[in-house]
Amino acid sequence: MTALPKSAPFPADQIETLNTIVARATPLQRSWLSGFLAGVDAANGATASQQPLAPPRVKSKLTILYGSETGNSEGLALKARKTAQKLGFDAKVLDMADATPQALVAAKDVIVIAATWGEGDPPQRAATFYKSLMADNAPRLDGVRFAVLALGDTAYANFCATGRAIDERLGVLGGLRIADRIDLDLDFSQKAAAWTESILAKFQLAEPAAANIVHIDFKAVPQADDPEWPLLDAENPLAAEISDLVNLNGSGSSSETWHLEFATDVPGWTYAPGDAIGVIPENDPELVSALLDTVGLGADVTLAQQLTTGREITTLTRPLVQAYAKLTGRADVEAIASPDRFASYAADRQVIDLLCEYRERLSAQQLVDLLRPLPPRLYSVASSLAAHQGETHLLVGAVRWQSHGRARNGVASAHLASRKRGDVVKLYVKPNRHFRLPADSTRPIVMIGAGTGIAPFRAFIEERAAIEAKGKSWLFFGARNFTTDFLYQLEWQDHLTSGALTNLDVAFSRDQPEKIYVQHRIAENADALRGWVSDGAHIYVCGDEKAMARDVDKALGDVLGVEALDDLRNAGRYQRDVY
Ligand SMILES: Cc1cc2nc3c(=O)[nH]c(=O)nc-3n(C[C@H](O)[C@H](O)[C@H](O)COP(=O)(O)OP(=O)(O)OC[C@H]3O[C@@H](n4cnc5c(N)ncnc54)[C@H](O)[C@@H]3O)c2cc1C
Ligand SMILES: Cc1cc2nc3c(=O)[nH]c(=O)nc-3n(C[C@H](O)[C@H](O)[C@H](O)COP(=O)(O)O)c2cc1C
Repeated sequence: MTALPKSAPFPADQIETLNTIVARATPLQRSWLSGFLAGVDAANGATASQQPLAPPRVKSKLTILYGSETGNSEGLALKARKTAQKLGFDAKVLDMADATPQALVAAKDVIVIAATWGEGDPPQRAATFYKSLMADNAPRLDGVRFAVLALGDTAYANFCATGRAIDERLGVLGGLRIADRIDLDLDFSQKAAAWTESILAKFQLAEPAAANIVHIDFKAVPQADDPEWPLLDAENPLAAEISDLVNLNGSGSSSETWHLEFATDVPGWTYAPGDAIGVIPENDPELVSALLDTVGLGADVTLAQQLTTGREITTLTRPLVQAYAKLTGRADVEAIASPDRFASYAADRQVIDLLCEYRERLSAQQLVDLLRPLPPRLYSVASSLAAHQGETHLLVGAVRWQSHGRARNGVASAHLASRKRGDVVKLYVKPNRHFRLPADSTRPIVMIGAGTGIAPFRAFIEERAAIEAKGKSWLFFGARNFTTDFLYQLEWQDHLTSGALTNLDVAFSRDQPEKIYVQHRIAENADALRGWVSDGAHIYVCGDEKAMARDVDKALGDVLGVEALDDLRNAGRYQRDVY
């Protein structure tokens, strides 16, 4: 950075101060300063000749393309746009759901932010874009400059597979990689912000693609505020009190499904049916102390607190095993991290098993560094604000299993299940504009869910009842046994009586010798379903991807035709919220 000359029109002490600030400023800060001074002059009516730092006369177009399932990539794309706009880019955000590879050819300068789902698959709404990009007839991308941010979770075997594949493909098609891809785990927020800043600086330093230069009026640079984006997020959650909680399963059930009500009557807290609520969980204190005892740190109370709220102490990821092997210098641990052994070792083990089986003493810092930050968990909102003003309801299935002689509990679900009335849990709203009731409330809706997948449909029906929607509604619900597992049974019966719910079809898989699931009910009702769809119905599926949603997708394809189902998806009339 060039220092201000002594002849600059400032007293010596100010020159020194300015040099101190400017020399240390990042590209973003320098650009902001330049824009700020230009803005001050514009506001004071200064002429161009009076301006100490001329504002840019041109700005460069930038497209931020994202592929997202639960909104993390979308959120990062919106934040990146805000940063880019502050830097003077003419930046726009594009959902892969609405894009084709041709859009990249036109865009020229592109940041791609892509999440990975399923078992290394693209997010469902990005699937068509992804397929076209990978196809033999994908367009050449000569002259396109790009950088890819891949989002994923190191607990999955195919970490960041989608972002990796897109990055490679853009290069193969002739695009120019302006910076190396970054692969981010669940603690992506700050790393993504730093990466975005550095990438924008690279795009800024590079000569803009001729087609991308736009002449601008500096005052017109928009300050993007996204009204859809929540004020509260994982970094800034609401401490909400539990006003009620009850296990909805009858005694003798193999499931434990908790209905929780939170008092959320605070300014700024709002949600729509279809949104998810992020829960900041806490670890089981007993597991924390077992872990600390194992590594010889049992007496460290501060560390126990840090691990309870801040670190993931259960999920065994490959990077964690690799780091433990390096830290301890143990070849036997390194062998577990090998690709052919890791998956089977980690399938039913957790961090505590590794640390017990290959026991070593660790320092507090070594242990903390080994563990990744504890990520929040999402739960579909199960209430409508129209029916429960100032409240937020969730339906949480307690995850519990047994392996290698230990009782295991899902971190967030078991934490929630063990709460009492009056306890406080940290929450934030995760909007999902891709799982929404039809704007036209006269449209019929078909809702298909099993187990906790019924949660958003409770919100849907409460909302439609509150607004006295004229459209018909049909719920397919699946669980194991009628007597113990019919979640919200009395409420559905009331909604049937009032007419808010028109049809209810249930599948209780274990009430008869042969297994019956929701997909069987869909097949049995094929004619009626086709009728509803031709009357304009929107179809919603929520719940477990592997145990239900895949089979439901196939059943719907059989009933309606695969192409017709694709058309419904593209028209926003087939929406899924699966996990
Ligand atoms: C958009 C979205 C909406 C969701 N909505 C809901 C909802 O409404 N209700 C709901 O209950 N959940 C919902 N979930 C799931 C929820 O977010 C959590 O994933 C779930 O509660 C488990 O979290 P946990 O912290 O309790 O368990 P974790 O501590 O995260 O443990 C779960 C992990 O344990 C392992 N595991 C589980 N069972 C076994 C077993 N038998 N053997 C070996 N390993 C096993 C698996 O790796 C599993 O991923 C939703 C998820 C998403 C993404
Ligand atoms: C059911 C499920 C499957 C997932 N599969 C993968 C995977 O195969 N590889 C990976 O790296 N991440 C995987 N993830 C993690 C997501 O990529 C990660 O949560 C990401 O932040 C989601 O971004 P999004 O909100 O933009 O969709 C999976 C997450 C869930 C809940």
